[in-house]
Amino acid sequence: MHTIDSINQLRSHLWQAKLDHKVIAFVPTMGNLHEGHLQLIDRALEEADLVVASIFVNPLQFGPGEDFNGYPRTFMADQEKLISRGCHVLFAPNVDEMYPTTNVSSTVVKVPHLDQLLCGASRPGHFTGVATVVSKLFGIVQPDLAIFGLKDYQQFLVIKQLTNDLCLPVKIIGAPIARAESGLALSSRNGYLSNSELGQAAQLYACLINCRLALEQGESDLQKLEDQAQCQLESAGFERDYFKICRQNDLQPATNSDSHLAIVAAAYLGKARLIDNIRFTLQL
Ligand code: PAF
Repeated sequence: MHTIDSINQLRSHLWQAKLDHKVIAFVPTMGNLHEGHLQLIDRALEEADLVVASIFVNPLQFGPGEDFNGYPRTFMADQEKLISRGCHVLFAPNVDEMYPTTNVSSTVVKVPHLDQLLCGASRPGHFTGVATVVSKLFGIVQPDLAIFGLKDYQQFLVIKQLTNDLCLPVKIIGAPIARAESGLALSSRNGYLSNSELGQAAQLYACLINCRLALEQGESDLQKLEDQAQCQLESAGFERDYFKICRQNDLQPATNSDSHLAIVAAAYLGKARLIDNIRFTLQL
């Protein structure tokens, strides 16, 4: 695997592959890689001739008081994991390489409406940070396709919309959520949890599944289901952020005539803010 930290060197490195019409897949990450990330690499290897991963903890997507400084940085271990999985190129720029000026008037990419909902409401500016860095990374790598985990389902929709709106020639692929045996979605932030919190954390997925079952059994009071789930989470030791039954395509609140649904949740447990979701089609 080639590890490259400069934009110019990456471009020179990828130049021949592009001339040879090789299919390039891109897996952007913030590092602290777990099995979920590595499954994205596996998928990329199935889809493409050349796989580029990136590791960049993007300051723009962290708000004041969030965990940018404490975000786990495990570069050497991440490199080893990527090598063992067969990744071809790792792009690992530093902050100055990605944001050479601290000029407040630098261009940002904003995806309206979607960026204000759910995680966007709890983390103002977060999705502008994500959309901006992903657009820059797409401009740098110029991949044919890019793969994102569906745990961050709102992020996936934001990236699909920006790619579409800006006519970027990148196919966006969503990969299934990797889970621990308990059902807990794998996340770099699970590392903030103590052993006992790890046990409690599985309740987040259990609440999503219970809510889906209730809908499938004909419960039509969506507000009641959301409230019940919040109470269940609070009894399991979580602090609430949101638990919502939404339309799958735009994350607007679902009504009883919607069948393509996403149940999306975020909650705080100890030092971690955990997110998860399930997406499914309800027989009406
Ligand atoms: O999902 C992530 O790890 C990040 O939000 C991403 C897409 C790499 C952008 O920084």
